[in-house]
Amino acid sequence: MEGAREFIPYGRQWIERRDIDAVVEVLESDWLTTGPQVAAFEEALAEFCGVPHAIAVSSGTAALHLAMLSLGVGPGDEVIVPAMTFVATANAVVFTGATPVFADICEDTLLIDPDSVSSLLSSRTKGIVAVDYGGHPCDYEALQNIASRHGLFLVSDACHSLGGYYKGRPVGTLADVTVFSFHPVKMITTGEGGALVCADSGLAKRARRLRNHGIDLDFRERAGRNTWEYDMVELGFNYRITDFQCALGISQLSRLKEWVVRRNEIASRYRSAFCDMKGITPLVSYSHVVNAYHLFVVKLIGAEERLEFFLAMRRRGIGVNVHYKPVHLHSFYRERFGGRKGQCPVAEKAYHSIVSLPIYPQMSAQEVDRVIGAAAESLEEIGVTS
Ligand SMILES: Cc1ncc(COP(=O)(O)O)c(C=O)c1O
Repeated sequence: MEGAREFIPYGRQWIERRDIDAVVEVLESDWLTTGPQVAAFEEALAEFCGVPHAIAVSSGTAALHLAMLSLGVGPGDEVIVPAMTFVATANAVVFTGATPVFADICEDTLLIDPDSVSSLLSSRTKGIVAVDYGGHPCDYEALQNIASRHGLFLVSDACHSLGGYYKGRPVGTLADVTVFSFHPVKMITTGEGGALVCADSGLAKRARRLRNHGIDLDFRERAGRNTWEYDMVELGFNYRITDFQCALGISQLSRLKEWVVRRNEIASRYRSAFCDMKGITPLVSYSHVVNAYHLFVVKLIGAEERLEFFLAMRRRGIGVNVHYKPVHLHSFYRERFGGRKGQCPVAEKAYHSIVSLPIYPQMSAQEVDRVIGAAAESLEEIGVTS
C-alpha cells in the first residue's frame, strides 16, 4: 500500500514561469480589464479554433448563458441537453426561463444519443446542446442533421474538448456556437474564465454586448472615441474577464497542442494496461475524432464495485472522481422539472459504474504507472479479478 506517497489529483493546471511573467507584466500595465489582452486572447482563440469570432467571459457558465440569450432562448422554449453533464449546461437554459429537456446518452462513449434527441423533439424545441463529455467530440453529423431538418440551433458545450477534432474539423467549428471553460482542471486555464466562439457576426456582437450590461460601447471603445456617451440597449450582465487572466490564457494556449498529445499518450498507456485487467473498462474513443481527454473515464462492473474501487484508490493516494450524477436527478431538477429515476436509463446506469482516473499533461510516466499499479491492487483487494 502506498498511503504515505503524494496524492495524485484527477486533473490539475500546469503553470510555468512564462505564465507568471505574462500575468505580472499585465498587472504592471495600464489595463487590468477590458484592455488589449482580452482582444489578443480572443484573436488567438479564434485562430486556434479556425472561427471568425471569440468572446472571452468570466466563466464557462457565463459563456453558456450568453450563448442561450444570443440565440434567442427564452420562456416557453425547450432546449435538449444530455443528462450526463455538469449541471451548468442545463442551468444556462433555466437562467433564460426556458425548459431543459434531458436526452439519454450512448452507452459506449456517454455522449448525447441522437436517437434520444429525435424522440424528444416538440413544437417548443428551440435547440440542442451537445456536450463533448470527457473531451470526445459528439456525433456532430447526426446532430447537425436533426438541427437543420427541424430548424434548431446546435450549441457545442466544449468545456472538456478544446483542442479536439471531429472528422478532421476542429472543435469550435462544429456547431452554431461553441462554449469553453478555463477552470484550472480544464484544457487550459485562466483561473476562472470561459469563452464562446462562432461564425455569425450578429451572434458575436450580441454576446459581446450582453457580457457588458447590454451597453453598446465598452470603456475602451469610448476612450478611443473621446466620448463618455453610451446606451444600454438591453438587459445584460457583468461577465467580463480581466486582462491578466487573458494574458495567462494566451500563454497557456501556446502549449495546448502539445498538451493534447501528452493527454493522448497517457490515455494510450492506460488503455494498454487495462486491456489485461478484468473488471475495468475504459470508455470507447472513436478513430474519427481526436479526443482531448479532459477526463479518462473507466467503467467498473457495478455500483458496489465502483464504490469499493473508489475508496481503495483514494486510500492509495489516487484522486479518482465521478463525473457526473445525471442532472435530472439533482433535487432542483426533480422539484422544478419533475426529474425522476428511469427518465434516462443509460445515463443512470452509467452513473453507478463510472470513475474518472487522473489525467493531466504534467503527469509523469511514474505517476501514470502508479495509477495503473494502484488500480491493479485495488481490483485485487475488492476481489473483481478473481
Ligand atoms: C460540461 C461543462 N459545462 C460547463 C461547465 C461550466 O464551466 P465553468 O466552471 O467555467 O463555469 C463545466 C465546468 O465544470 C463543464 O464541465
